[in-house]
Amino acid sequence: MTGTDFSLNSTAQAESSSTLSLDSAIERAVQTLSVGGLVAFPTETVYGLGADANNPDAVRRIFAAKGRPPTHPLILHVASAALMTEYATEVPDVAWEIADHFWPGPLTLIVKRNQGVSDLITGGQDTVGLRVPSHPVARRLLEAFGRAIAAPSANRFGRISPTRAAHVVKELSTRVDQVLEGGSCTVGLESTILDLSAGRPRLLRPGAVSRDMLAEVLGERPDAPSSDTPRVPGQMASHYAPRTPMQLVSPQELVKLAEQLAPMGGLAVIARQSRPDGDCSEIRWKTMPAEQSGYARDLYDSLREIDEEGHDRLLVECPPLTPEWEAVHDRLKRAATPA
Ligand code: TXA
Ligand code: MG
Repeated sequence: MTGTDFSLNSTAQAESSSTLSLDSAIERAVQTLSVGGLVAFPTETVYGLGADANNPDAVRRIFAAKGRPPTHPLILHVASAALMTEYATEVPDVAWEIADHFWPGPLTLIVKRNQGVSDLITGGQDTVGLRVPSHPVARRLLEAFGRAIAAPSANRFGRISPTRAAHVVKELSTRVDQVLEGGSCTVGLESTILDLSAGRPRLLRPGAVSRDMLAEVLGERPDAPSSDTPRVPGQMASHYAPRTPMQLVSPQELVKLAEQLAPMGGLAVIARQSRPDGDCSEIRWKTMPAEQSGYARDLYDSLREIDEEGHDRLLVECPPLTPEWEAVHDRLKRAATPA
């Protein structure tokens, strides 16, 4: 496999499409991280904006590049579950079991942090988020770097997470030192976040590892976040938002509403059903995969596409209200909430 490596330092911009072998791209990424630089890298969920977790200045650069408030904690990405003990004081048995089942993969575990993890990473909380991603480029990078890489999604704060290297290049440009190419993310939505730091397991963010999959290992369904859970993604009502004003519509109402709005122009639709015959020919109609994993994989890319084309409003057909669609619903609800 080869990796394309874009250098985005102002001096190197002209040669941005030079293709290096994956080996040399990883080698350069390790050097970049070691000197406090920022490396965007692919994971199976979304692209991350990585920095050496042990370098406070590098971690501060993440917040500056994203325009993110310093109180929002960062996930530590590590090469294997065995490294949990480097960053956690207490790893409950259940965390080992969950890690055994779902890592490497699209799941973040919240556990009690140890002294080595700075307040910058945790936002001052006594817990830390840990994740072992499965994307081959992420794994190579983590193995070569040898210690934790702190990484949020590689987007500006509050915007849609990137699922392709080109999204990162466009949105962060010279704010990132290197972007590792890894193709389109296969999951397409951010990881499931499971809090195992306090008593009963809590699901802080739904994702591809579903509540039911977790229940099979936990022996119980994880709770929803309580209203006093600090700084979880669920408290950010308008996150993951496109610029185009967006409205969620039931499948039954979609065509009627679209036909009503079409004469005003500037209308885009994202739907599982295909464009109906009749008065909808002027509408930008994006048909999505009908099944959940394909829909999740394509959602952010489709929202970005619609944003870039520039429409006045976007109607999104509400997918089924079944448990397997929980993560998609979560992101759609936030995307439809104005900032
Ligand atoms: O799939 C993912 O998780 C991606 C890839 C890059 O790994 N990362 C990601 O990071 O989505 P970010 O920073 O965009 O979202 C992580 C969320 C944040 O909203 C933060 O509130 C929550 O995880 N989080 C991190 N550490 C936490 C902690 N100790 N307690 C509670 N929530 C935490
Ligand atoms: Mg994010």
